[in-house]
Amino acid sequence: MNTSKHNAAAVVGAFILSIACHCALGQHPPSSIIPEPFERVASSEAFAIGPETSIVADPDAGAQAAYLARRLRRATGFELPIIARAEQDIADAIVLRLTSAEAPRASAMGAEGYRLSVTGRRAQISASAPAGLFYGAQTLLQMLPPRIYAANPSPLTAAERSLAGVEIHDRPRFAWRGLMIDLSRHFFSKEQLQKTIDAMAMHKLNVLHLHLTDNPGWRVEIDRYPLLTAVGAIGDRTNPDGPARLYFSKDEIREIVAYAAEHHIAVVPEIDLPGHSMAAAKAYPEFFDGDRTLNPANDGALEFVRNVLTEVMELFPAGHLHFGGDEVRNHRWGELPEMAEFMRRHGYTEFRQVEGHFATFVSNFIAERGFAPIGWDEVAEFDLHPQTIVQWWLHLRPETRDLAVEKGHRIIISPTDYLYFDYPNHAGEPGAVWAGNDNGPNSLELIHQWEPVPDSWSSEREALVLGLQANLWTEFIRSEEYFEYMLFPRLSALAEVAWRPKGDKNLEDFIRRIQVQMQRYDAMGLNYRVHSEWPSDFRYLTH
Ligand code: ACM
Repeated sequence: MNTSKHNAAAVVGAFILSIACHCALGQHPPSSIIPEPFERVASSEAFAIGPETSIVADPDAGAQAAYLARRLRRATGFELPIIARAEQDIADAIVLRLTSAEAPRASAMGAEGYRLSVTGRRAQISASAPAGLFYGAQTLLQMLPPRIYAANPSPLTAAERSLAGVEIHDRPRFAWRGLMIDLSRHFFSKEQLQKTIDAMAMHKLNVLHLHLTDNPGWRVEIDRYPLLTAVGAIGDRTNPDGPARLYFSKDEIREIVAYAAEHHIAVVPEIDLPGHSMAAAKAYPEFFDGDRTLNPANDGALEFVRNVLTEVMELFPAGHLHFGGDEVRNHRWGELPEMAEFMRRHGYTEFRQVEGHFATFVSNFIAERGFAPIGWDEVAEFDLHPQTIVQWWLHLRPETRDLAVEKGHRIIISPTDYLYFDYPNHAGEPGAVWAGNDNGPNSLELIHQWEPVPDSWSSEREALVLGLQANLWTEFIRSEEYFEYMLFPRLSALAEVAWRPKGDKNLEDFIRRIQVQMQRYDAMGLNYRVHSEWPSDFRYLTH
C-alpha cells in the first residue's frame, strides 16, 4: 500500500514560494476548489482579512456565521466579531446575506447554490437558504492556505490572508451527494464519524448513510429491545469476540446527528431487513428464521419491525429511513411452521412474493409516518409506496435501475463498479471486487470521468435521479487508517461528479487541484492514497 505522505516543511516551503511568485508577478493563483464551482470569474481585486474585519450576517444565518467565524478565528487569530444585521453595505467585512428565493438567479441557485463575490471592500456570500451560505463558506475556506484545516494552524501571514478577487456562481447538479459507512462489519467511533463529517462538508457532500445493522452486529440502542445491543452488538468482523459495547447509545446518535446537521449533512439510518439480520436474530430468535432472515409470516415479527423503526425515526429527524431489502436469503422460510399458511392465505407460490409483501408493508409503514423509505434495488420490482427511493447498486443489472424510474420512483445511483469504495483503487491493491467488476479498479480517474446518467435518458427520467452515493462496506476495513485510505481522495472525485454540471470535467486540472486537497487532508490528519501512477516528480502544488 502506498500511503507515503510528503514532508510538511517542504509543503510549507513550496506554498510560501508560490505565494511570493504570484505576488511578484501580480497574478492570481489558479483556483484549487473541489468541487470546482459552476462559474468562476477572477478579478484583479483582493480582499484582505485583517484585525478589524467583522462578519456581518443576516439574523437568520447565525449558525453559518458562527461556523465561519470559528474557522477563520482559528486561522487568523483575529476577533472577527459577528454582527447580526440585514442591512449589509459595509466595508471590511465578510458578509453572509440571505436573499429572497424569488430574486433573479436565486431560483436557479436552489437552496444549496450561492454567489461569492470578493472585491476590495468585502467578501460577500449570498444565497436563498442557509445551506447555500454554508457551501459559500466552504469555498471561501478553500481560497485560503490548506493549513487552516489543522486544529491549531500557525497564524496566516498578511499575504496569506488575502482572498483573490472573484465572482463565483455555484450550485450542485444533484441534491443527494452521499456516503455510506458500514458500521456493522467494522464499528467506528463517534469521533471518527465526526472527522469524516468534517471532510464530507469540505467536499460539499450532504448525506451520511449509516448501515447500522447486519449479520456481524447491531449498532443502535433501541429501548424496547435491549438485547439488540446487549447480545447483538458484541463484536464485529475485525473483533468477533467483542468488546460488547460496539454500538451507539441514543445520546451518542443525537450528538452525531446534531454535529452532521451543523455541517448541513443529513444522517440517514439503515435497518437492513428482512435479510442481513443475524445480529438481531441472535437477540430475538422468535422473530427470525433460525439463521439471518426475518420471518414475515410471524405477526410478532412485524410488530417488532414497527416498534424498532418507530424508535429509529425519532432519533433521525432528517426524514429518510433505509430499510435495506438486499440479498435476502429466504431458503429457510419453507421450514417455518406458519409460512405455508401465510402463503396460502395470500395466494403466494414463491418466497420472492413474501419478500414483496414485506417490502410493501415496510415502505408503507415508513411513508405513512412522513419519512421517505429507501430500499436497495432488489425491491424495485415490488409494489412499493410511491415515495420510496430505490438505491441502485448492482451494476450488472441496469434493468432494475430502469424499472425503478419507469415506475416513477426517485433513485440514488451507487453502482459497484464506480462507487463501491471497498473496491480497490488500483490493480494489486487491497480491496475486493466481490460483486463483480468489468470496469477496472474504481480509481480516482475512473470516477472523475464517469457520467452517471445514461445519455439516452430524457430530462423527465433524469429528474428522478436524486443523486449519487459512495458506499464503504467494511468486511476488509480493519482500521481508521485503512478506512481513510479507501475514502480519500476518491471522495473528491465523487464530489466533483455529484456537484459539477454534466460533462465538462477536466481531469488534468482535477489532478492539479487534488494535490492541494492532499495538503488539506494532511492538515486534517486524514490518511489518503497517493496515486502510484502520478508523475515521479509529483509534488504538492498550492492554491
Ligand atoms: C449491497 O451491497 N448489498 C447493497
